[in-house]
Amino acid sequence: MSPSAPSISQCLPVVLPSVFQCLPVVSPSVSQYSPCLPVSPSVSPSSVSQCPQSLPVPPVCPVWQAAALCVGPELLQQDTIPEDAKARARRLLGACAGHSAGAYSASPGIEAIRQDVAQFLERRDGVPACPQNIFLATGASDAIVSILKLLVFGEGSERSGVMIPVPQYPLYSAALAELGAVQLGYLLAEERAWALDIAELRRVLAEGRRRCRPRALCVINPGNPTGQVQSREDIEAVIKFAYEERLFLLADEVYQDNVYAEGAAFHSFKKVLAQLGPPYTDTVELASFHSISKGFAGECVAPGQGGGHPWVLGFRVAGEAMGGGRGLNPAVPPFPPLFISPIISPIISPISPPQEKQAVLSALAQKAKLTQEIFNRTPGIRCNPVQGAMYAFPRIDLPPRALQAAQAQGQAPDMFFCMRLLEETGICVVPGSGFGQKEGTFHFRMTILPPADKLQVLLQKLSAFYTKFVKEFS
Ligand SMILES: Cc1ncc(COP(=O)(O)O)c(C=O)c1O
Repeated sequence: MSPSAPSISQCLPVVLPSVFQCLPVVSPSVSQYSPCLPVSPSVSPSSVSQCPQSLPVPPVCPVWQAAALCVGPELLQQDTIPEDAKARARRLLGACAGHSAGAYSASPGIEAIRQDVAQFLERRDGVPACPQNIFLATGASDAIVSILKLLVFGEGSERSGVMIPVPQYPLYSAALAELGAVQLGYLLAEERAWALDIAELRRVLAEGRRRCRPRALCVINPGNPTGQVQSREDIEAVIKFAYEERLFLLADEVYQDNVYAEGAAFHSFKKVLAQLGPPYTDTVELASFHSISKGFAGECVAPGQGGGHPWVLGFRVAGEAMGGGRGLNPAVPPFPPLFISPIISPIISPISPPQEKQAVLSALAQKAKLTQEIFNRTPGIRCNPVQGAMYAFPRIDLPPRALQAAQAQGQAPDMFFCMRLLEETGICVVPGSGFGQKEGTFHFRMTILPPADKLQVLLQKLSAFYTKFVKEFS
């Protein structure tokens, strides 16, 4: 770094704490600081971002081609566009009013696509799915916030409390802060590979009931940032808990395609609930979320680019949830007409042959193992098995002098570590404090998406930096 370049901490904007709570982004924007960063030929700062498309994961072309054809149907005459993309586009345009992607659809999304989604869910779960319970929107984020808006109401001790995991994907804490809901964080059991812990759910619920009205319970499976895949038994136990305690369930399943650890399998809440049968099926209210932005060939579309990310919401008991006196907020906007529905089709009719999908998943499994091995070989770092999603969330021991140095700078200790890492190596990881963690523990999140050779170099550099950091502050 040149002597005159500002340090990263000097570049940080000063924000009010209340504003900061509502910010879902917890890592510094690397491009903002890029003038201050050291250049590393093997590890570019963006290589640890969470978006597959910012890494060398090729875009799913027929999807984009189909989307382009829907907005520019004259391109259907072009010979260079593959027939697969044309067939997708013709079918989708046929389902739009006036054969135009610009026409309003029904509020929950284009009917034909909702039918496709229902078929996809039936194939996935082996239990019936009803198109009327499916809503399409512009991304899981939008969907989750829309549902939370329905669930948050009441004043004082009647204000809605929402149980969310700790650590959690910060969309939840940000949305709950914005809605003024009471956030009830339940700890995932790190010592059991981030499993759900029913005793902890009971503890948090009982504590929450003293100050608010807990109305909903969110589960993220597979986990972000923790990379765990919940067992069928744990999902069953959570459904029974929600039934007993009359909690609305939100199942964030956007990483359902990214399950690769040996012995791990994705079980949807919808399937497990259906298999449990009555009285659970009659009573438990469940909204589950899926998105194409995080599939095994994820397509992260920048918000605002062509309408954002499409998502699928399998809304198990929409009728009861919305009509049952649960305080439907009239200010909730209708689910947006889905201009970009074409992109959702790869979930329903996959583009890549199964062997290709398997190859991507095997590569992820290998990279997950590599990550665990290198971290667990480093004294002071402990990394749980990465079973799914695309993140590792290792725990780091930080020496007391590092804690003091962080305090002197007004930073959380893991933020201090991550900033030093970024400044000295160009590697950007996200501090655990941005996701929430058990008090007195420190973590960071990194993605395992970079190609294996680059990931190996990155992990070795990170491990070496950690060892040097601990020495410096010991
Ligand atoms: C757990 C989780 N839920 C929801 C989302 C948001 O999905 P989308 O990109 O469809 O808005 C993300 C994105 O990173 C996520 O990690």
